[in-house]
Amino acid sequence: METAGFDIVSYYKEGEYIQMNFLEERIVKDGIVKSGNVLKVDSFLNHQMDIALMEEIGREFKRRFGHKTVTKVMTIEASGIGIAAFVAKEFGVPMVFAKKSKSINIDGDMYVAEVESFTHKNKNQVIVSKKFLHPEDHLLIIDDFLANGCALQGLISIAESAGSTIEGLGIVIEKGFQIGGRVIRNLGYHLESLAIVDAMDAKTGTITFRAQEGQ
Ligand code: G4P
Repeated sequence: METAGFDIVSYYKEGEYIQMNFLEERIVKDGIVKSGNVLKVDSFLNHQMDIALMEEIGREFKRRFGHKTVTKVMTIEASGIGIAAFVAKEFGVPMVFAKKSKSINIDGDMYVAEVESFTHKNKNQVIVSKKFLHPEDHLLIIDDFLANGCALQGLISIAESAGSTIEGLGIVIEKGFQIGGRVIRNLGYHLESLAIVDAMDAKTGTITFRAQEGQ
């Protein structure tokens, strides 16, 4: 059955009727819940990539943001790049990715933001050349995971430095029990996450998704 761009898979679980979209279905099938609230999806999303799934993700972001004027898709290396490429193809626009740089000698031709990773416990400067972001640009920002939101905040800061308009932010997997999603939505941005994980249990492997409108 096709509904609103999703292949809906329904099943009964613990007496409850649950509907999943294509991504949630794949996460349940191939995602691995690790201790420390880490979801491993490296067999299809951020190490080995399922290209048919990437195409579907690209189409789904087009469906959700297609009514907006988008001149460029922006992401951050490394895992965002593959996904953002498929989104950019759907919109027929270029994709630009922020590079992580350890260098402190960054020249004035770059927009720079500092991004702290709670997961990796390190800090990176992320940079985008001033050649590739302009005040006329309308950006769709894409990334694979949203946890604490540091990467997205860095991208937002770079977009603001360039004077570009942020039309929206698209995330493949949001960890809804971490603060990033709430912070970004509270800033007033249009944030769409294809799957929002509200809880995970490493012992049982159970993943609980947040119900979303339009599914
Ligand atoms: P944040 O950007 O939302 O604040 O996330 P955080 O600092 O907590 O996470 C740092 C990195 O770990 C990010 O990738 C993020 O995508 C990833 N990450 C966070 N939670 C999970 C998870 O449960 N599973 C997986 N697989 N990744 C997670 P990154 O450092 O930018 O790495 P990469 O894009 O170079 O791979």
